[in-house]
Amino acid sequence: MKVLVVGGGGREHALAWKLGQSPKVSQVFVAPGNAGTATEATNVDIAATDVDGIVAFAKQNEIELTVVGPEAPLVAGMVDALEAAGLRVFGPSAAAAELEGSKVFCKNLLHTADIPTADYRTFRNADDASRFIKDKYSDPNDAVPVVVKADGLAAGKGVIVCETRSDALQAIDRIAGQKEFGAAGNELIIEERLTGQEASVLAITDGETIISLPAAQDHKPAFDGDKGPNTGGMGAYCPTPIVDEAMFEKIESDVLVPVVHAMKRARKPFKGVLYAGLMLTPAGPKVLEFNVRFGDPECQPLLMRLKTDLVDVLIAAADGKLSEIEPLEWDERPSICVVMASEGYPGDYETGREISGLAAAAEVEDVKVFHAGTALVDGKVVNTGGRVLGVTAIGNSISAAKLNAYTAVQKIRWAGAWCRKDISDKALR
Ligand code: AMP
Ligand code: GLY
Repeated sequence: MKVLVVGGGGREHALAWKLGQSPKVSQVFVAPGNAGTATEATNVDIAATDVDGIVAFAKQNEIELTVVGPEAPLVAGMVDALEAAGLRVFGPSAAAAELEGSKVFCKNLLHTADIPTADYRTFRNADDASRFIKDKYSDPNDAVPVVVKADGLAAGKGVIVCETRSDALQAIDRIAGQKEFGAAGNELIIEERLTGQEASVLAITDGETIISLPAAQDHKPAFDGDKGPNTGGMGAYCPTPIVDEAMFEKIESDVLVPVVHAMKRARKPFKGVLYAGLMLTPAGPKVLEFNVRFGDPECQPLLMRLKTDLVDVLIAAADGKLSEIEPLEWDERPSICVVMASEGYPGDYETGREISGLAAAAEVEDVKVFHAGTALVDGKVVNTGGRVLGVTAIGNSISAAKLNAYTAVQKIRWAGAWCRKDISDKALR
């Protein structure tokens, strides 16, 4: 069968790679893809957000399974459009994708379903939000441990963690006053700042049955030791020992199961990947956010460990038959993904720089280099995005996997390339 992956990042390269390993798959298309997907699948020049273009392509080419990677096309209704055209697709409807597309919807659902999350208030304008902060923290020198969040999608940038009153007032102004994130800031949330380790627990669901995947840990801040600005994620590993078996069961029973039920009750049945971003607080795990897709980079180390045919799982989920699937089989060994980024990321960065050493890196045992922001220009691989490569490795221990990944990282060069050096160290502490 022919399958189509929508998107062009590291997650989509990993999906295309894994789907391509299935004996049932004759051809994998990726729209728009990158230089990495070009080497093991067929890139199609259609933007990931072009709903009509994707539907037309899937119809013409008799695609039997479309997998939508990023959140924007999901929120824009790509799954609804494909289903309306009679095509099979893995991912949530636009209504269900609101769980990520609107933080206000998400928080209200969590509150109604009594799922642990930070205390919060929602606001429709900057004045009300600022007044709330000034009333609650009357002394300008008070610590103000809050997080201010734009309601809508803001490419991960609409979340501002605050320490002081002026941080909070500034954050409110940026989101709801200056509208730095556009319409995403039409509503905002002010919530209690939580402390603890963060973990990502993803599950595949057809709206009834839930198959949770091993817990992973992302590294969102740009620099070593979790310093610097937030990014899309600078690396991940799985499984993370930070989530032990008891904690994992608690997350399944107190978070994943009630969310799937609550979505059904809200008449927005959820099909696809449900991604819980969690803070492991002294009072137990609390939900920071939900994503409605595989995480990037969490997807890369997860799929490296998956032994089951991914096509079977995603088709069963799309067809509402997940209960018929055997338990997933995993490589026992842990895996890690180190993101190599462009100079300046997550701020402005230059593109078009030639990347060398990819062939040497590919020869390192137990390593797979997934491309993210790359393109092939005149036969050369160049950087086109902030996050450029996801060097992913497996090993007998987390430290062995880490060593394999960084051995491959050292073979890859381009002007200004950098990465965090401490991915997975939190597991070893
Ligand atoms: P989100 O996109 O909601 O996951 O937020 C991005 C990042 O902001 C998270 O990974 C956390 O590091 C941080 N964050 C979000 N909400 C909170 C919170 N209530 N307390 C502390 N940190 C938070
Ligand atoms: N790794 C975080 C995300 O995919 O949103």
